[in-house]
Amino acid sequence: MPAITATAPGKIILFGEHAVVYGHPAIAVPVNQVRARAIISARPDQPSGWVRIQAPNIGLDALLDELPGDNPLSFTINHVFAAVDITRAPAMEIRITSTIPIAAGLGSGAAVSIALIRGLSKFLGKPLSDEQVSSLAYAVEKLHHGTPSGIDNTVITYNKPVYFSRNKPGKADQVEKFNVARSFTILIGDSGIPSPTALTVGDVRSAWQENREPYDRLFTSIGAVVNQAKEAIQAGDIATLGPLMDENQELLVRIGVSCEELDHLVRVARESGAFGSKLSGGGRGGNMIALVPGESAKAIAQALISAGATNTIVTMVRN
Ligand code: MEV
Repeated sequence: MPAITATAPGKIILFGEHAVVYGHPAIAVPVNQVRARAIISARPDQPSGWVRIQAPNIGLDALLDELPGDNPLSFTINHVFAAVDITRAPAMEIRITSTIPIAAGLGSGAAVSIALIRGLSKFLGKPLSDEQVSSLAYAVEKLHHGTPSGIDNTVITYNKPVYFSRNKPGKADQVEKFNVARSFTILIGDSGIPSPTALTVGDVRSAWQENREPYDRLFTSIGAVVNQAKEAIQAGDIATLGPLMDENQELLVRIGVSCEELDHLVRVARESGAFGSKLSGGGRGGNMIALVPGESAKAIAQALISAGATNTIVTMVRN
């Protein structure tokens, strides 16, 4: 049996991180320049039920049985077995690699889950639907950080720009794949500071629990920026998007999820010709983004590197 390979892209949040956890909308787009990959090969020389997992990026080489049940990889694999109704899997080797930086706001955890779910269900002859893939990846996200909004698994599963609002009790998530009337260029800059989303999301929750009113007001203002940004993207009004990014950044600073290094990179991007700039994802490290004129992307990327960014990616947002 030939090996099965599945891949999944990274993602960035264009507008609305953190507020999206509290039911406000957010906009995210896939980043196909970085990817997670799962390769599943049969091992007919081993007894059924034998599953070896290799994930060199995190230094893991183990048998499924050796991993604790709440390990995100064993949790994902066992849930795929249950979803496709398999009690004793054929012997296999699963190799997971990824070019998506970890703890950087680019969705590496969700992308690994999605590549693995897709590859494994296909290997077992029962490929899961997008809805099943996304909802299983959401369950894994909950292991990574207790209260994910669900936007990462959604945008990565569908590999399209999405306007997303988290479900209210008893209601389904609102996922809109909306029209990008004019393509635009986003420059992504890595601060090089690892910052697990679980920590920033947890800190924001504690601060909100202590003093809800000002945070609720900030979340509502972010939601309003997101809705204006969606209108602008749908109308091809790119000139409006830059100032909206700056406004979103200011609100994130007030929530307390920026940091000196991100503030610096955002400032350098603006001073070097970006239309607007903000952090993207959990914040306090990880990546920032800037809306840039396509022809200046390289020069602005160079300015970010000189200002301390450890890596840059240029990506186009299109339908
Ligand atoms: C993570 O990509 C974005 C956050 O809003 C967390 C979430 O939505 O789960 C910070």
